[in-house]
Amino acid sequence: MHVEADPEVITQAVREARAGGKSIGVVPTMGALHAGHVSLVEAAASECDFVVVTIFVNPTQFAPDEDLAKYPRTLEADLELCRAAGADVVFTPAATTMYPPNSQSVVSVSRISRMLEGESRPGHFDGVTTIVAKLFNITEPDRAYFGQKDFQQQLVVRQMVRDLNFGVNIVTCPIIREADGLAMSSRNRYLSPDERQTALQIKQSLLLAQRMASETQASPAKIADVMRQKLRQTPGINLNYAVVVDTDTLNPVTEGVDHAVALIAARVGSTRLIDNLVLQFR
Ligand code: PAF
Repeated sequence: MHVEADPEVITQAVREARAGGKSIGVVPTMGALHAGHVSLVEAAASECDFVVVTIFVNPTQFAPDEDLAKYPRTLEADLELCRAAGADVVFTPAATTMYPPNSQSVVSVSRISRMLEGESRPGHFDGVTTIVAKLFNITEPDRAYFGQKDFQQQLVVRQMVRDLNFGVNIVTCPIIREADGLAMSSRNRYLSPDERQTALQIKQSLLLAQRMASETQASPAKIADVMRQKLRQTPGINLNYAVVVDTDTLNPVTEGVDHAVALIAARVGSTRLIDNLVLQFR
C-alpha cells in the first residue's frame, strides 16, 4: 500500500491503474478510522480493482466554534486499518496543498444542503462538497463510498454529482454500530462512560419510531413527536432535531408513505451526535 501526499502523483497512479483496465474506487475520510470506515474500504475493495482512501481533516467543513483542532488524528493506526481492508493507495494531503492561500472557489449545493444539518451547521456542506469535488477530480473514481450514518451528506453529494455531471457512482453503505447499538463515529471517543450510556437513547428512539411505523397507525408527524418527547425527557441529552422525512428530498412526509427516514441530531455533553434509521411503514 502506497501512502502519498501529492495530488499529482495520485492522479498519475489512478490513470495508470485505469490504463491497465482497472476500475477505481475512492473512500473519502477524515481519518480516525473505525469499523464503519473499514466497511467502506472493504466494500470498495470488493467492487473495484484499485482503491484509494483519502485521509484529510477538512478545515472548511468545521465552523470556527467546532472541534477542528481537537478532531482526533490517528494516522499510523488508520494506515494499518486501510492496509488490512484492502486499500491500494492512501492520499494524505496537507491543508496548504488542498487550499493554497489564493484559492477562491466553493462548490455549493442549494436547498438540500441548507436543511437540518445545514441549518444547524451553516456552511458545513459547502465545505464538504468543495473538498469532495476536489477529491473526485484528483482521484477520478468510478465509484465513491459514503456511510449512511451521514444520511444528509450522501444526499448532498449525490445532488452535486447529478448537478455537475461528475461521472462517479455514489455507493451508500449501512451504518455500523457498537454492540450496544451506538452508531460508530470518530466523535464517540469524546463521550464519558455516563454520556455513552445516555447516548444509547438516540438509537432507542429510532427503534421506538420503527416499532410505531410497523405496528401502529401513527402518522410520520406523530412518530417524530414521540421521538422528540422521549429525547427531551432524557437528562443529559440536548436535542437538536428529530424528524421523519422523505429519503430523497428530506421534505416532510405525509401519511400513506411506505418508507421514510428518521433523522436525529443531539448533543450529549459537549459531543454532537447524529443517527438515523429508514422506517418501513405497514
Ligand atoms: O464524512 C466525512 O468524513 C467527511 O465529511 C468527508 C466526506 C470525508 C469530507 O471531508
